[in-house]
Amino acid sequence: SAAEKGGYASFMLKEIADQPKAVADTLLGRIDASGTLHLDEVRIPPSELREVDKVVIIACGTAFHAGMIAKYAIEHVTRLPCETELASEFRYRDPILDRHTLVVAISQSGETMDTLMAVRHAREQGAKVLAICNTNGSTIPRESDAVLYTHAGPEVAVASTKAFLTQLVACYLVALYLGQIRGTKWGDEIRTVVRQLSEVPRQVEQVLGTMEPVRALARSLADRDTVLFVGRHVGYPVALEGALKLKELAYMHAEGFAAGELKHGPIALIDEGLPVVVIVPSPRGRSVLHDKIVSNIQEIRARGARTVVIAEEGDEAVVPYADHLIRIPATPTLLQPLVATVPLQVFACELATARGNEVDQPRNLAKSVTVE
Ligand code: AGP
Repeated sequence: SAAEKGGYASFMLKEIADQPKAVADTLLGRIDASGTLHLDEVRIPPSELREVDKVVIIACGTAFHAGMIAKYAIEHVTRLPCETELASEFRYRDPILDRHTLVVAISQSGETMDTLMAVRHAREQGAKVLAICNTNGSTIPRESDAVLYTHAGPEVAVASTKAFLTQLVACYLVALYLGQIRGTKWGDEIRTVVRQLSEVPRQVEQVLGTMEPVRALARSLADRDTVLFVGRHVGYPVALEGALKLKELAYMHAEGFAAGELKHGPIALIDEGLPVVVIVPSPRGRSVLHDKIVSNIQEIRARGARTVVIAEEGDEAVVPYADHLIRIPATPTLLQPLVATVPLQVFACELATARGNEVDQPRNLAKSVTVE
């Protein structure tokens, strides 16, 4: 009903607007004033977590994109090898797991059959399974060794928005917690990330307040056939997520690429006027990533693409090559997906609406996929 949608035209719009609170609620009580993490709810004893020698993340769809981002965070913070795999592939591949493997299963619903089967398979091999889940008492957390709940509140729209942002928060918490317990690389940079996390709700709010030009852009692209998304590092999974949103909501051909892969094939797709959305890493920090993507933008624009550039405030290097510029607040590189995904959600929602689609219930999709 209209009341349940809180005055918004769709659950999706309401859930996009709910994100600052969802992120804040997921952080609540888990980091103290000194920057120490308290995740006692993760009931795998620290002694066992210290013995972990590999992390494997399994998930499907949008949760898989959160898992791809988690890999960057976990490897950087803990120096443990980490792989992220689609649950539906993991199971049938004879994965190498033992009791020193920590498997992290990410699922909003906690009922996704592919993920559940992968959890069972992992536990049979002796691995410890930590679920990141948004639904209390659902099957995946019940069948896991431990659970870290995301506190996004119920997500009704089929397309995941606030659950994704809170999955990212939970993944960063897991990375930082493992780092804290294992005492690896617990330096100033990590402390900065911990501090910055508490800024994210305000930053998401700020992004939400500047979305009108993004909506106008989306409407202007309603009759296009294809939109491409490119990014590097954690911006690559963000590109995949931007493309998935457009497929599921606008029923358009959309693809995400790692920017470095363009020259290995996809650049041949680019012709006059093709919209290409580029997620630009922060020019501060690992500036080599930034420099590389600026040349990628130049390359695709030289081939006629219409560039939609998502870049940090104050990043002037991208301005000459951006047909449309979407500004996001400055964050550490690892946290950028929390703010960079928001315009892509708004973009897909508006574009779908302009095409006359029902955004809460896209055709052919179910909120939770309980078949294999
Ligand atoms: C997201 O927009 C999709 N509807 C879908 O990819 C979803 O993320 C996937 O099916 C996994 O669902 P889960 O998080 O409930 O396991």
